Amino acid sequence: MVTLAEGFKQDFLIGAAVNTRTINTQRKLLKEHYNSLTAENEMKFERLHPTEHLYTFEEADQIAAFARENGKKLRGHTLVWHNQTPDWVFEDANGGAADRETVLARMKSHIEEVVTRYRNDIYCWDVVNEAISDEDGEWLRPSKWLQTIGEDFIAEAFRFAHQSSPEALLFYNDYNECHPVKREKIYRLIKSLLDQGAPVHGIGLQAHWNIFDPSLNEIRDAIERYASLGLKLQITEMDVSVFAFNDRRTDLTSPTLEMIRLQEERYEQFFRLFCEYRDVLTAVTFWGAADDYTWLDHFPVQGRKNWPLLFDTEQQPKGVLHKVLSQAGTVRESEVK
Ligand code: GLA
Repeated sequence: MVTLAEGFKQDFLIGAAVNTRTINTQRKLLKEHYNSLTAENEMKFERLHPTEHLYTFEEADQIAAFARENGKKLRGHTLVWHNQTPDWVFEDANGGAADRETVLARMKSHIEEVVTRYRNDIYCWDVVNEAISDEDGEWLRPSKWLQTIGEDFIAEAFRFAHQSSPEALLFYNDYNECHPVKREKIYRLIKSLLDQGAPVHGIGLQAHWNIFDPSLNEIRDAIERYASLGLKLQITEMDVSVFAFNDRRTDLTSPTLEMIRLQEERYEQFFRLFCEYRDVLTAVTFWGAADDYTWLDHFPVQGRKNWPLLFDTEQQPKGVLHKVLSQAGTVRESEVK
């Protein structure tokens, strides 16, 4: 059987999110099937920079070393986000709110330190994650970054990252990215950044999808719309939950046959579409490598397992893997011959 990375080598990179545990427990699978890695949590602000004068790079370094030693590409995730960022960033010495200049200077020194450290390892950074609001009638998310620095925190983050690693590709990354209303808000943000001359090179579509949602047309429209900005696109955190958004069942010990059928059908459609857009789509990264470890276990429903990836809990190929591989460039080519 051809591997994922090999099958899609003419199309795009195939990535997986990893952590310091899974680079051991899933080592063989990662080495074989994936040619790109993203640290699931280890490069987030709170993990790298828990207090103002302390950086903790050990775990991120382990992941960078694993990528280097195995010839994998590495995506950086993530520099500026409203979540998993420590409170000290936004506080003054008395525990009150820090002012704009202080927070901006902290953001700058954090980005400089981190991006410079991994300059030779990371080819692409998620510079700003999830800055758009999900609320109707609200454009930017009311985060502490926005409240203390103002709207230009986003453009500034891209400038600092570019100064620290001029060769790195800089991405804006978000979820619900195919939802038409949010899509237009993301489009508006990136267009305004480009109009200001901010160094933005790509948009990351997280792609935390499920077996019903979003529709194929919504995905196509989002790809078309973002690509019209002249940027590269990546699928950055893909998983396809077997539960509908409102399904709260906790009694299943394995996916139903209908869930399996729909997941296979949907993944095949997604990859057919991705291959159509292989000129703008440069990587597809899954948020995990196999169903033995997924952030969707117990989230958002406590006590519920999920099966959103292409390999099973034993890290063996699922039927859906073959559906996905049937769309791969090298496989299409061998069928033509
Ligand atoms: C978002 C973040 C990721 C991760 C997932 C949930 O999509 O970008 O880093 O935290 O949520 O695991």
